[in-house]
Amino acid sequence: MDRVRQAIFESIGYWGKVSDEFHVEHDSPWPAQRRMHESSARFKALFAGSRFGKSRAGANDVLPDIMKANTRGWIVGPTYEQPSKEFRYIYEALVVKLGFTPKKKLNVEYSSPGPQILVMPWGAEVYTKSQENTESLLSEELDWMILSEASRLNEKIFDGYLRARLGTRRGRVVIPTTPHGYNWVYKRFYLPAVEGESDYWSEIVSVKENPLFSREEYEKAKKELPEDIFLEQYDGEFVAQTGLIYKRFRRQTHVIDPFEIPRHWARYAAIDPHPSTPVAVIWLAIDEHGTCFIYDEMFIPDLTIPEVADKIRTKEGGIQPRKRLIDPRAKYIDKLRGQTASVQMQFRQNGIACVEANSKFESGYYKITELLTPTEMYGDKGNMKPRLFIFKNCKETIFEFETCNWGNEDKDNHLLDGLKYIMNDNPVRTWSADEVRLRDREDRDRRRSMNAVTGY
Ligand SMILES: Nc1ncnc2c1ncn2[C@@H]1O[C@H](COP(=O)(O)OP(=O)(O)OP(=O)(O)O)[C@@H](O)[C@H]1O
Ligand SMILES: [Mg+2]
Repeated sequence: MDRVRQAIFESIGYWGKVSDEFHVEHDSPWPAQRRMHESSARFKALFAGSRFGKSRAGANDVLPDIMKANTRGWIVGPTYEQPSKEFRYIYEALVVKLGFTPKKKLNVEYSSPGPQILVMPWGAEVYTKSQENTESLLSEELDWMILSEASRLNEKIFDGYLRARLGTRRGRVVIPTTPHGYNWVYKRFYLPAVEGESDYWSEIVSVKENPLFSREEYEKAKKELPEDIFLEQYDGEFVAQTGLIYKRFRRQTHVIDPFEIPRHWARYAAIDPHPSTPVAVIWLAIDEHGTCFIYDEMFIPDLTIPEVADKIRTKEGGIQPRKRLIDPRAKYIDKLRGQTASVQMQFRQNGIACVEANSKFESGYYKITELLTPTEMYGDKGNMKPRLFIFKNCKETIFEFETCNWGNEDKDNHLLDGLKYIMNDNPVRTWSADEVRLRDREDRDRRRSMNAVTGY
């Protein structure tokens, strides 16, 4: 390893020993991180499972470049959210750990979903960029670039905007990402490396190599997840992903006739507001065994927030959900669009209290897939049932289940986004004495009019 690089890593505490929860010491960086730092290739792609340490390694890899005068680098992601991770590691290293005072900084805490800037006194510049904002991707010469979660980036953006930024200064590219099928990132950065091209370095590494990552969690996920998803998300491997995302969804199995939701079941709502498409709202109830029922939805175009709020109230009919979750982006005030209050605030002002959701795709996806999978009821192999049902009236949600594809999972699935928010919230039941009494009373009534499909 280059001595300067090692010295920088030592001084920020990245090079040395780290202890795990059992106070066992491990060498940092992890072996694959170290091999990436040791490579002098111009294009370095680290394909690793979630939580391996990709962002931290990617950010630290460019620190020696940022320590040089008058250099410029970009961290580019599908939105501003992904590069904010690498940016934070860079900021922490330079400003928090090494104690340098920036000459200029913008949005360093990522308090609004926009660009971040850090300029050091020696003229080194760090910018975050989003592929959604193509105008910002023009006309600068770069010394380095990080493609954050590159497998979610568009190849045309790389070709049309990014590649040309690297020409004059022979800029280098670091690619810390989980893989996403055999897509362009695989072709452009992984294959040349395995074929031995000297400008390229690439490795695939499992999250298991991060000694701080819980082995228990790894084994649990291995049991629960479909194999291809597990291999991709935990072991960082390329797997062919084609077709429908919710392959286990079957209209015959999961779509049922509506019934009245017992009052004591926990209800959740999720709101996915969007400036250019209808606001999507989904309602889900959970019975005492953890079975989930999507019982209502709303997806009407051209409504203002007060109108949507009114409709939500009418649909809920006076029974407030236990929690309403909203897209985390709704908390930001979008000054560019002339907002003075965030969308979340506007809902609150209109009487619809809602809390920020966790919008991570993978975790929500796993839980939905798990719930869709029929399992034995009461240890009876002849009686297999899923734990997620959708009422027939939720037409748009059913449509999304039947059409949501790998490749479009990040967009235009607003109701499924809402479902993901609810699943990421780990809805759990706890019972009060009143609820137990109410349940028993309702149980008696229900037994008299059982539904053959669901048992309710
Ligand atoms: N060499 C290291 N020494 C100590 N901690 C590390 C090291 N590398 C990563 N970590 C820690 O592991 C966690 C995950 O790191 P990081 O955010 O870089 O992972 P990631 O692979 O980018 O995750 P995600 O898939 O969520 O983007 C963080 O808490 C980070 O500080
Ligand atoms: Mg990351």
